[in-house]
Amino acid sequence: MTEVRKFQAVRGTRDIVPPESALWTRVERVARDVFETYRFGEILLPIFEETDLFARSVGAGSDIVGKEMYTFADHDWLDLEALRRTILEFPLGEPSEPFQASFASLSRKFVDALFQATLSSGIPGTPENKAASERLSEHVHKLSQYLEDFETFPNFDIVVTGQAIKQALKSIQLGPIVSLRPEATASVVRAYIEHGMQTLPGDVKLYYMGPMFRRERPQKGRFRQFYQIGAEVLGQSDNPGIDADVIEMVLVFIERCGLVGHTLYINSIGCRDCRPKYVELLRAELTKVKDKLGPDSQRRIETNPLRVLDSKLDSEQAVIETLPRIGDHLCEACREHFKMLQAMLFMRQIAYEVNWRLVRGLDYYMRTTFEITAPGLGSQNAICGGGRYDGLVELLGGPPTKGIGFALGTDRLILALQEAGKGEAASGGAGVDAYVAWMGASTYAVAVRVARTLRDAGFSVEMSHEEMKFKKSLGLAARLGARFAVILGDNEVAAGTCTVKRMADGTQATIAERELAGHLRT
Ligand code: HAM
Repeated sequence: MTEVRKFQAVRGTRDIVPPESALWTRVERVARDVFETYRFGEILLPIFEETDLFARSVGAGSDIVGKEMYTFADHDWLDLEALRRTILEFPLGEPSEPFQASFASLSRKFVDALFQATLSSGIPGTPENKAASERLSEHVHKLSQYLEDFETFPNFDIVVTGQAIKQALKSIQLGPIVSLRPEATASVVRAYIEHGMQTLPGDVKLYYMGPMFRRERPQKGRFRQFYQIGAEVLGQSDNPGIDADVIEMVLVFIERCGLVGHTLYINSIGCRDCRPKYVELLRAELTKVKDKLGPDSQRRIETNPLRVLDSKLDSEQAVIETLPRIGDHLCEACREHFKMLQAMLFMRQIAYEVNWRLVRGLDYYMRTTFEITAPGLGSQNAICGGGRYDGLVELLGGPPTKGIGFALGTDRLILALQEAGKGEAASGGAGVDAYVAWMGASTYAVAVRVARTLRDAGFSVEMSHEEMKFKKSLGLAARLGARFAVILGDNEVAAGTCTVKRMADGTQATIAERELAGHLRT
């Protein structure tokens, strides 16, 4: 017999259950209401995409793509995959002949199976795949020839050929490699291109909400499955008024949810012209103070010096403050754009702080970047991040297009609301208007009908399908927080009435069944 096992949600994931889920529903409703007043339309996106989409947009060298994505091969060639694994695990350099023959035979088997699979057009016929399978066939052929007649090939090196076979095997892609989405901007841009949205009138304004996945170390406000509410504007203009509008919209949303005490930080990280020069300058300056930095920052001097500015290590703060600031190294156009953005925010009476260290961890940003932090969240206090990504559409094969957007971390916004005592929508949404209490087999049918009539009229109604004494039913109605109990016994059914008890004060009235909805509204 199978052993009984209890399961728990996987580390970094969780259930959001009533009544807390009602607060989530409220926040999502506020987002929809606010975003639609700015003419944003909702886009529903796939939860997984080709890994390469994220590698090209978020950046192959970013932490997100480099170490945090949930990635898997999405194809049906399980036999081929298993065979490949067996060949790759074969220790090379084993001198015994049967061993070598078995390596060669498995490799031949793979070549044949790959050929058949390619004929049935199940394997991507990319130039990389063609080149790799040609290399593979060539090396396997050489190995077979050698095994048939050692003497003709005195200089043959089986280890070198074995390694070449393994290398070629590794580079063959049996099907798409996909990842659970770590963010949604890349998907929105892919969809924009795929659906030719550049032909739509005006700027394309899209919003989305749903789960994202990053394999980070879980802690307060940081999950492996977390939720974002985000919005993107794609179009021909990079006017800073658009940036300010997007920022205004997210602030209206946050404020309408009831949050106070949050801070908006903005920065400009320049463009393709000015940023590389600044990055080089920063790298040179960082190299001079390398000894004063920790191992992570030391590594980043080479890989991504901008990320050193993100460091939260106390010991590095004094050094970082002495570094050159990007604001002093922007090109004329970027400087003007940033100045205009600030004027536009001022015009809207939006308070902000310039934070020259706000660089963000995604490669697609240029010029405007922004973040909103909330009190009460500890180290994971960024509730929203966003910025401009002109050029990303082109990078992914679309027409020249400008883009800006943000994503708000729903988990963190909810946490901040709860910390501030603003989680009250929790009980409101789940309230019960009427509890239908019945007794007697013949009254059940009437109770079902009454419940349906009240629900059709928009009331939230609960009833039990087990017959219970009235005392027990009314006790349950009280515990559920019902506003009314609708009591149905044999007498009521015979008279075509109900006894309605107002739970708050215990007053009772006899009401005709057809007047029930009207009575509950009073
Ligand atoms: P991001 O800064 O990576 O930007 O994420 C945005 C927000 O998602 C963060 O500020 C945070 O509130 C939330 N978040 C991120 N990771 C986690 C996590 N592990 N647990 C809980 N919450 C998390 C983006 O994703 C960009 N796509 C934003 C954007 C849209 N830029 C332009 N358009």
